[in-house]
Formats: sequence, structure tokens, C-alpha cells
Amino acid sequence: EDTVEALLHNLQPPKTASGSKVSVVGVGQVGMACAYSILQQGIVSELSLVDVVPEKLEGEMMDLKHGLAFTRPCVIKAGSDYSITAGSHLCIITAGCRQREGESRLSLVQRNIKIFRGIVPDLVKHSPETLILVVSNPVDILTYVTWKLSGLPKEHVFGSGTNLDSARFRFMLSEKLNIAASNCHGWIIGEHGDSSVAVWSGVNVAGVNLSALKTGGEKYKTWETEIHQKVIKSAYDIIKLKGYTSWAIGLSVAKIACGALQNNRHVFALSTNVNGIHGIDYDVFLSLPCVLGSNGLTHIIRQDLEAEEIEQLQKSAKNLYEIQQSLDF
Ligand code: NAD
Ligand code: LAC
Repeated sequence: EDTVEALLHNLQPPKTASGSKVSVVGVGQVGMACAYSILQQGIVSELSLVDVVPEKLEGEMMDLKHGLAFTRPCVIKAGSDYSITAGSHLCIITAGCRQREGESRLSLVQRNIKIFRGIVPDLVKHSPETLILVVSNPVDILTYVTWKLSGLPKEHVFGSGTNLDSARFRFMLSEKLNIAASNCHGWIIGEHGDSSVAVWSGVNVAGVNLSALKTGGEKYKTWETEIHQKVIKSAYDIIKLKGYTSWAIGLSVAKIACGALQNNRHVFALSTNVNGIHGIDYDVFLSLPCVLGSNGLTHIIRQDLEAEEIEQLQKSAKNLYEIQQSLDF
């Protein structure tokens, strides 16, 4: 105290926060990859971490704080009490069970809904204006559940969805073409996971549509199937090798967070309520390219899909809707 007073002449008490506030619920592998990437981007002035394991919270908070000499200033808090999330602009939910080797995302649904019942109302109580980004799996169904539990407008609740699948897809294209992933354009839509849909009709480099190239034929079809299957298998392969996936989802979430906080109007493949689009006429959440701003999702891009792609999307929607109908929450 004496040293502080000796150094600093007091004019008025400092403000405790300014700028953007993000809260991350769940400080497991995914939550911390998100928190780390967000901190590294320097886009938030306050970051709150919530979990049910106090020692882990304390340890993760200390570890992040010790990096603050290398990042933009940020107030970092951690605790099990949701009051530390008050006033969040964006809440990111990564809490819950993850798949074991060979297990599907959908099999996690009832266990994670139970956990979400204890999270979502508390988040909204302390930040009634917040946007919520759901990451826990099965992400599409949990985004629907979060929308229902939160009472927030549907545009304020979205899932990380197939933004990750699309990134994997672009990386795999980039390997085939030896062109940077950021210049390989392609979208995976639908369910994040097993029934996702690759929009091959739109895949392009510098506006040159790959499916319109004359040389393709059967060979190109095999190529298509091979890459899409590899995207679907990605998470299973990584879970088999290292037990969980973390870095790519962390980077994907940090980009989405940046888009939301800075009102960048970026287009991301996010899980949203698609009722009324592509012939789907019920409330179901799955990914389509969405425009994101600081007030949440403002538009869904009307992709010019081929009949086969629409059919696959509708199948993906029906699959998720049937599970949704059987849920108890
Ligand atoms: P993890 O086991 O490492 O971490 C989960 C964390 O949630 C733990 O710290 C645990 O204490 C916490 N938790 C459990 N119940 C809680 C509660 N009631 N309140 C607050 N925190 C609670 O798991 P992980 O590898 O970080 O994965 C987390 C989730 O993210 C899983 O559902 C996984 O399938 C999903 N995931 C999604 C994507 C995606 O693209 N959407 C990618 C990777 C993982
Ligand atoms: C993923 C998680 C497991 O990495 O959903 O795709």
C-alpha cells in the first residue's frame, strides 16, 4: 500500500472495466482454447471464466494473467458465481461432456441439456442484453435448447456450427491445390458433424467454380466425396489421437467473437433457426452462412443450392428436428 501511494498521486478511482466483455462458461480444453485465442486477439477488455471446479478456475486464471505483459490490457476474472459475468456483451458456452473415442456428438445430448439448465438462466439473469454463442455438443440442438431456456430473441443465440467444418474443408482444399486456405472458398452447412452438407456447387478459387471445370467428371466426384468424408471424420480422428479437439475451435470462436464485438459484418457458417429457408418449415437450428453484427445475426445468405444439396440439408434438418422433439428440458 505504502509503495503504491508513494508512486501514484491519486486523482480519482479508476474504472474497473471499459470496452467489450466476454464470458466463457466451461474452462476445459475448448473453453481455454477459446479464452486464449480471444486474449491473444486483443479484442476484449474483460474476460470472465466460469466453471464448477474452483481449483481449475483459479489455475487457469493465474496462468492467463501471467501472460498479460504480452497482450492488450484485460481484466480477467474467474469463479463459480455468475455475478462475475454481469454486463457481458457475449457469453460463450463450452461446458459439458465431450465424446469418447468413436462416440457421436448426438449421444451427448441429454447429459449436456441437464448442464445447460444450470447455466443459461444464470447467464441471462446477469446479462439480459447478451449474445450467446454455443459451442458444446451437439451444438445445433444445444443452440435450440439455449434459445428456449434463455427467452432471448433468436438472432441473439447462435452456435459455432459448421464454421469449424468449413475451415477444415478449406484447409483440405488448400492442401490439394497448394493455395492458401484463406483463398480457397467453400462452405459446409447443415449439422455440425455427421450429416453436414458440402456445398460443392459454390466451391471456388478467385471466382473460378471448381465444379464447373470441364476436366472433372467422375474423378472430381471421387475428390468431392473424399474431402467431405475427411472433414466428417476429422473430429473422430483427432479425438482418437489426442482425446479432444481444441485449437481450431478456439481460433474459430475467437474470429466469431471478434466479428460480434466489433460489428464487422463478417459472414460465418453459424447454427441458427432456419425455419422458412430452403423449404424447411419448422424451428430447427443448423448452420447456414449468416451475417454477424454486434446485435447478433442480421441476415442469412440465400445460397443458390443444387437440388441434391437442398435434399441433403432437409434430411439433416429432419434428423435434428426428430431428436429435438424427443427432448425433455
Ligand atoms: P472438457 O471436459 O475438457 O471441459 C468441459 C468443462 O465443462 C470442464 O471444465 C467442466 O468442469 C465444465 N463443466 C461441467 N459442468 C459444468 C457446469 N454445470 N457449469 C460450468 N462448467 C461445467 O471438455 P472440452 O474438450 O472442453 O469440450 C467441451 C464441449 O465442447 C464438449 O461438449 C465438446 O463436444 C464440445 N466441442 C464442440 C466443438 C464444436 O465445434 N462445436 C469442438 C470441440 C468440442
Ligand atoms: C469437433 C468437435 C468435436 O472438433 O465437435 O468437430
